[in-house]
Amino acid sequence: MTPYLSDTDLPALPATRPPLAGGPASAANSPFAQDLLAALGSRPRSISPKYIYDAAGSALFDRICQLPEYYPTRTECALLQAHAADIADLAGPGAEIVEFGAGSLRKVRILLDALEAPAGYLPIDISGEHLLAAAAELRASHPALEVRPVVADYTAPMSLPAPPGGAGRRIGFFPGSTIGNFTPAEARAFLRSAASVLRGGALLVGADLVKDPAVLHAAYNDAQGVTAAFNRNLLVRANAELGTDFDPQAFDHAAFYNAPLQRIEMHLVSRTDQQVTVCGQPFGIAAGETLHTENSHKFTLASLRDLAASAGFSAGPSWVDAQGLFSLHWLVAPAH
Ligand code: AVJ
Repeated sequence: MTPYLSDTDLPALPATRPPLAGGPASAANSPFAQDLLAALGSRPRSISPKYIYDAAGSALFDRICQLPEYYPTRTECALLQAHAADIADLAGPGAEIVEFGAGSLRKVRILLDALEAPAGYLPIDISGEHLLAAAAELRASHPALEVRPVVADYTAPMSLPAPPGGAGRRIGFFPGSTIGNFTPAEARAFLRSAASVLRGGALLVGADLVKDPAVLHAAYNDAQGVTAAFNRNLLVRANAELGTDFDPQAFDHAAFYNAPLQRIEMHLVSRTDQQVTVCGQPFGIAAGETLHTENSHKFTLASLRDLAASAGFSAGPSWVDAQGLFSLHWLVAPAH
């Protein structure tokens, strides 16, 4: 089974195609097309990892989470399980959980099942379809929970519905070390806006830790090539949605630890001198040139707490597994 679509799996495209029709509804005006055009036209070339996550990209990410080399998911779930009672004490009764991004329900279920009479669950995600499916599942399993999905981009300033009545606090949940996808400045901006919607409550955040680069390298260069397929899915998706003519196999998956910047960088490296056409515009890509597709920052307990403090949180307890792989942090959002 091929882990990703190769270009031969896609409908044949004529060798020359007219540019896509203009107009507000055309693919050329989509944020993905705009960002891809901007990425290809600048140096270094880089694009947000969020475009990797269509349905196929999300399915590949779910497979990554089960890989033997990819320790973050299982380590974070074990940490949540092990410290659920402490977390429930800190949250108090009747809490409303605000999840930034609605990934798999596995993690928030651990939390909801440990909390005392949680009042509400408010997941925020840009993908409405995924969000509504998750909301329906949780309503079915937790009938007493008020589930209020919000279709929004949580990286932009947020306005949330008023908290439900009652004495419960608003508790933010941001697992998976997704915070590591941001630049430090973006992470600070996100935390500031989270602190403002969580005022008087707290944020529980998962952060992957700085460690032996060999362990990091293995986690982002798995033996089965699932991470490579996940990376190339950016191009597969562009071909499907934007009518581009990338040959995904003409790009190598490259993921390496940038030690000074404490982050894994993921790139697509051109194997040959090639030309691609995006929305009617040709771009030359030389052998060895890269498209930077993702950063995954790693933290120390101190660096995460300093970042949180710089955004107005005061640090509560942190929890780390016995091997020092991954961390969970309780960050208090002052009432004013
Ligand atoms: C979902 C952003 C936390 O950075 O580890 C996994 C994404 N990229 N393998 C991460 C990812 C390559 C993941 N995050």
